[in-house]
Amino acid sequence: MLHVAAARDVWKSYRTAAADVQALRGVSFEVAPGQFVALTGASGSGKSTLLNLLACVDVPTSGTISIAGRDTGAVSDDGLTALRRSSIGYVFQFFNLMPTMTVRENIELPLLLAGWSHRRSAPAVDKALQEIEMSELGGRRPAQLSGGQQQRVAIARALVHDPPLVLADEPTGNLDSQTGAAILVLLQRSCSARRAAILIATHSDEAASKADRILRLRDGVLLT
Ligand SMILES: Nc1ncnc2c1ncn2[C@@H]1O[C@H](COP(=O)(O)OP(=O)(O)OP(=O)(O)O)[C@@H](O)[C@H]1O
Ligand SMILES: [Mg+2]
Repeated sequence: MLHVAAARDVWKSYRTAAADVQALRGVSFEVAPGQFVALTGASGSGKSTLLNLLACVDVPTSGTISIAGRDTGAVSDDGLTALRRSSIGYVFQFFNLMPTMTVRENIELPLLLAGWSHRRSAPAVDKALQEIEMSELGGRRPAQLSGGQQQRVAIARALVHDPPLVLADEPTGNLDSQTGAAILVLLQRSCSARRAAILIATHSDEAASKADRILRLRDGVLLT
């Protein structure tokens, strides 16, 4: 596999009552295995739109997205779900943990969805809890955690199934700068330990400065 994610001449428009919004206009790039890429651009420039297309939760208006060497336009809905579960981890700005589940259960979820038994997943969940230094807190629910702790759990959940590609949309945007910096270090360290590529949408210059490469969007166009 030459790349873990690729976009080729991707256009995305949203139809609204008022007008069509051209969110992405001819975007092309590739992400190599293990690469740390920052995606920057002003509010409304198309960062989240692009991440959603890469995450296969939305489809481009035209152009192709390939993930782990597969053209997503040629894959069935069931195939896309399987591809998403095996190949992608996603970290959100607002953590998006399941509120009724414990920390352990949240981290275990991607493994259960991939068909693992509780017994088989337990050691992987233990290891993920150690990695985020929250082994003692596996029985808590998200509301009983700080924002930074919730984001640590979200990172563990995104990585527990060892996806080759991690997508993060403003993962530090809802945290104070010190906590955000620690989260960034954790994300980078965990991804590099697994040789997972990471594409992180961010307004933070500090985050971008740590990346191997910066992709800049302006009004839906990738600047070179
Ligand atoms: N579901 C939608 N329907 C209509 N327009 C949308 C939709 N989602 C996004 N847009 C528009 O598409 C453009 C790109 O939005 P997007 O959310 O991708 O920007 P962004 O770079 O992530 O911004 P931010 O930094 O504020 O998160 C904006 O003009 C936005 O208003
Ligand atoms: Mg956004």
